[in-house]
Amino acid sequence: MKVQDIARLDQKYYCPVFGQRLPVSFIKGEDVYLIDSEGKRYTDFLSGIAVNCLGYSDEGFKKALCDTVNSLMHTSNYFYNETQAKLALRLCEATGYDNVFLGNSGAEAIEGALKLARKYHYAEGKPRAEFVTMQGSFHGRTLATLTATGQSRFHEAFKPLIDSFRYIPPNDMAALEAAVSEKTAAVLIEPIMGEGGIIPMTNEYFQAVRKVCDKHGALMIADEIQTGMGRTGELLASLALGAMPDVVVLAKSLGAGVPVGAFLARGRAAKAFAPGDHGSTFGGNYLACSAAYYVTNKLLDTDILAHVKQMGTYFKEKLMALKKECPAVLEVRGKGLMLGLDLDASVSALDIKKKLLECGFVTATAGANVLRFLPPYVIQKDNIDSLTDTLKNLLA
Ligand SMILES: Cc1ncc(COP(=O)(O)O)c(C=O)c1O
Repeated sequence: MKVQDIARLDQKYYCPVFGQRLPVSFIKGEDVYLIDSEGKRYTDFLSGIAVNCLGYSDEGFKKALCDTVNSLMHTSNYFYNETQAKLALRLCEATGYDNVFLGNSGAEAIEGALKLARKYHYAEGKPRAEFVTMQGSFHGRTLATLTATGQSRFHEAFKPLIDSFRYIPPNDMAALEAAVSEKTAAVLIEPIMGEGGIIPMTNEYFQAVRKVCDKHGALMIADEIQTGMGRTGELLASLALGAMPDVVVLAKSLGAGVPVGAFLARGRAAKAFAPGDHGSTFGGNYLACSAAYYVTNKLLDTDILAHVKQMGTYFKEKLMALKKECPAVLEVRGKGLMLGLDLDASVSALDIKKKLLECGFVTATAGANVLRFLPPYVIQKDNIDSLTDTLKNLLA
């Protein structure tokens, strides 16, 4: 079908939440490239919003999925599931967490983590309702995760929201100290705010969150939906910041394209849920687990994370060089293959994104005016060179 015909159907029959989409329909992926319905080839610097971490030609991944489709995709969590158990073991051993719950999306996993925090305090005999999150954060689209999201533009039409969320400016120690108290169930924090505009937490701040949570008996929950599973070059970005949250939430790269989310918990938080407290029909089914198990093994047993680090360093250097030459670039932020270019008001990140698409590069925007890059982990230097050369011309 021609993209205009798809757009006509979409506009008539699809819920209009995505408005007018970019006028491209991809039909195939190869390596780090996407091919559209007209046969045009694009280099992918988006990975389906930090999802397709393995790129599009990982034969082992395809085989694992095909084998599962051909044997059994789904039964139910009434029964034991070997891949689910092995995945949980691998994730726990690699991260130091004690147990795992598997759901279907990032928002669902955050919902589970928020419920876990409330249940934790309830089980301790001192129920707590409050959550503290960061201004500019993004945690999902369900009612609770939308409330957790520290951006009022998402809130207005959906009030009344879930009670007891407080929003504080990130990297502000005084605001942190003032907000967290004996009433706080948990502090929810992204190690690098993704949708908010690639805003990294400093090591000191992340560690201070840990200390303040310990002081008041609150849980620390890291939303690693975007940063986790290798995006920053580490399996988990939070551990590299020097503090271990009680709960860490994953999705996106965990399934490399198959919908799956997870929360990992440790210590008393891992014991808070009892039978019947939480569940999911699809969560952790055979298909999701074969994807997540393959991705986890790939990240842990190959040198792909070292490649992410190398390419991340190279990419950042190229973007820093661009900053020197292009006055419109205010700042280069991020880590590993989660990078952003903060642009001044003389250029629109959205316009640049559209022009890059015309030039054959798929990218994203974030925050106020940030161009965001989230390429597959198998991206190479020549792909980065082509992108930065094109960007240089566009920003000149
Ligand atoms: C940090 C973060 N948290 C939560 C979510 C929500 O995940 P999902 O869209 O899978 O529900 C996202 C999605 O972009 C995210 O980046």
